[in-house]
Amino acid sequence: MLKVNNVTKKFGELVAVNNLSFTVEKGQIYGIAGPNGAGKSTVYNLITGNYGYEGSIEFNGRSIAGLPPFRIAKLGIARTFQVPEIFPSLNVQDTIYVGSRFGAKGGLDTKYSDEIIAFVGLKKEQFQNTGLLNLLGKKKLMIGAALATKPEILLLDEPMAGSNATEISRLMELIKKINQELGITIIIIEHFMKVLTELTEELLIIESGSMICCDKPEIVTSDPRVIESYLGDSYAEDN
Ligand SMILES: Nc1ncnc2c1ncn2[C@@H]1O[C@H](COP(=O)(O)OP(=O)(O)O)[C@@H](O)[C@H]1O
Ligand SMILES: [Mg+2]
Repeated sequence: MLKVNNVTKKFGELVAVNNLSFTVEKGQIYGIAGPNGAGKSTVYNLITGNYGYEGSIEFNGRSIAGLPPFRIAKLGIARTFQVPEIFPSLNVQDTIYVGSRFGAKGGLDTKYSDEIIAFVGLKKEQFQNTGLLNLLGKKKLMIGAALATKPEILLLDEPMAGSNATEISRLMELIKKINQELGITIIIIEHFMKVLTELTEELLIIESGSMICCDKPEIVTSDPRVIESYLGDSYAEDN
């Protein structure tokens, strides 16, 4: 479904993504992990058309290189951000409608948007100002606005960041539901290995922009290169 082929992105002298290739199959939950500054968010910025790059990215068999972000959104690729990006003066419904209006093929679909508000668990807050939502609410809102664009694939950037154990398990349930009930393919960047091993079928580890390994999570997390470069000795002892 999504093919990243030999992609390189440089910011001046810095090689943020270095000859990276990976493939995400339809229906998968695909994980990406690696140390801070490894280039994970940059990979999303390349997929969604925020920057130019060397190499190619294909979605459903067609090249999306060079397309502007709104075109890529309309093809069916949606993303969320590490820090919830919301419009604090809008209410929940209007925020979801904005996602639908500007991101969905065919424009605003109020019926589907209302279903999404209920699906992410914000029915009670539908007419509440988004600035009043707690962190979990803001994350549900950001995911809801992405879903309102009717994506085929959803890119989540560290969705668990800053969350406590209860919030993490709620978000994990939501992510599973998005995949299973809506049939949406998911890529998830995450630091919490337990989240990745429970959710994902395949896990890509990158460091300094390059792939370290890519395999089933149980194989990746026992790979000596991954333990050495990323997980550290304490992970090896705990698991
Ligand atoms: N727009 C940018 N301009 C310059 N450098 C950037 C830009 N975006 C990211 N970088 C740099 O690229 C590297 C990878 O960043 P990022 O993809 O955000 O890492 P990660 O998400 O894995 O923590 C970092 O060194 C970061 O400082
Ligand atoms: Mg990042």
